[in-house]
Amino acid sequence: AIDINNLRSESGYITLDSGYKNTGATESAITFLDGEEGILRYRGYPIEQLAEQSSFIEVAYLLIYGKLPTVEELEVFTNEIKIHTLVNEDMRKILDGFPSTAHPMGILSALISSLTAFYPESLNPNQSKEEANLTIIRLMAKLPTIAAWSYKNSIGHPVNYPKNKLDYCSNFLHMMFAYPTEDYQIDPVVVKALNKLLILHADHEQNCSTSTVRLVGSANASLYSSVSAGISALWGPLHGGANQAVIEMLEQIKADGGDSKKFIAKAKDKDDPFRLMGFGHRVYKNFDPRATIIKKAADEVLTALGVKDPILDIAKELEEAALTDQYFVDRKLYPNVDFYSGIIYRALGIPTDMFTVMFALGRLPGWIAQWKEMREQKEPIGRPRQVYVGEKERNYIPMNER
Ligand code: ACO
Repeated sequence: AIDINNLRSESGYITLDSGYKNTGATESAITFLDGEEGILRYRGYPIEQLAEQSSFIEVAYLLIYGKLPTVEELEVFTNEIKIHTLVNEDMRKILDGFPSTAHPMGILSALISSLTAFYPESLNPNQSKEEANLTIIRLMAKLPTIAAWSYKNSIGHPVNYPKNKLDYCSNFLHMMFAYPTEDYQIDPVVVKALNKLLILHADHEQNCSTSTVRLVGSANASLYSSVSAGISALWGPLHGGANQAVIEMLEQIKADGGDSKKFIAKAKDKDDPFRLMGFGHRVYKNFDPRATIIKKAADEVLTALGVKDPILDIAKELEEAALTDQYFVDRKLYPNVDFYSGIIYRALGIPTDMFTVMFALGRLPGWIAQWKEMREQKEPIGRPRQVYVGEKERNYIPMNER
């Protein structure tokens, strides 16, 4: 029973809403999401149109600055980013301190936070508009370089420097996959698929990592620190870490003989902590529009690259069985964007523990746009209240009397 007096605050009663299932934290003009109808729009543009016709860098501009760029604006934005793709060599020393077994998300979060040391002006909450924009450009430019470094560290290979004549996605692929000893050909099918995946992940209103970015930023912390915190939130298996967990689960099912029904039964068993990873969503209760686009893309990419992945067949079986099973139907549990993203990343040659880093790469413009909006709206520091359910006042008991 809750003591009603605990719900009082100076301004009335406190709303208790664990997990903020029905509490709006802000007004935002960035992303529109209708979970019942399965609608997602960035700045009013349907996700389907953007995924089909736009590029990731154009979508980043749209999210951050609020409008589709003209040819000239996009050129300026692209070139500004290119100028800043190099990362200070001293950051390599930090990277070298990590064991090769370090998860790349841990490295990414640490190195993004370290950018504050190299650009201390970013700590000033009163940066001019131009300075604040430079902080944004630097982050857009350097995160892919750092992300690729984290991968190279995990395989014990030398890092690749960015090649600025390449576009954003091709440059990332070059830094990931080129070797000093061999030529690396960038496949346009892979570039197109990567653009699409990153667009689909670019923003998703007040999800866990974005809310983290806004909350940390509301204390006037720098953009780099706020995004570093967002990366940590995204790492969780109930959020961005789900794309890695999906592939691990599909591999587990394959190794176990491929009986998807057995795992569906496990997911339904309330005494078993197992959940079908990539199923369910806090907001989408009919379908995830990104999942529809990505499922089609997975088929196209695998066909274009001539990849036959037995895991895709297990995924389809699982989806089919879950969509007709009463447990999943009753709870409106559908495959989410991450159910298929891992399959595409695998086909593109991206290793499993880099999947969540790929999500971070995609979500970056959303985090930046939301952080910028929060600052421009001069939002107050985020500080939720609580309902105290602990002990009433009691006296300290000396050690020898306990
Ligand atoms: N497998 C089995 N049962 C599930 C699953 C699942 N994947 N997801 C939810 N349920 C069940 C719950 O056990 C609960 O059942 P009950 O009513 O009998 O107790 C009911 O469905 C509601 O689930 P909640 O956890 O209350 O829903 P919530 O909105 O809090 O959680 C979440 C959403 C975290 C996404 C959840 O569905 C989940 O854990 N999914 C698997 C992880 C995943 O795919 N995460 C990626 C999210 S998308 C993204 O970050 C891009």
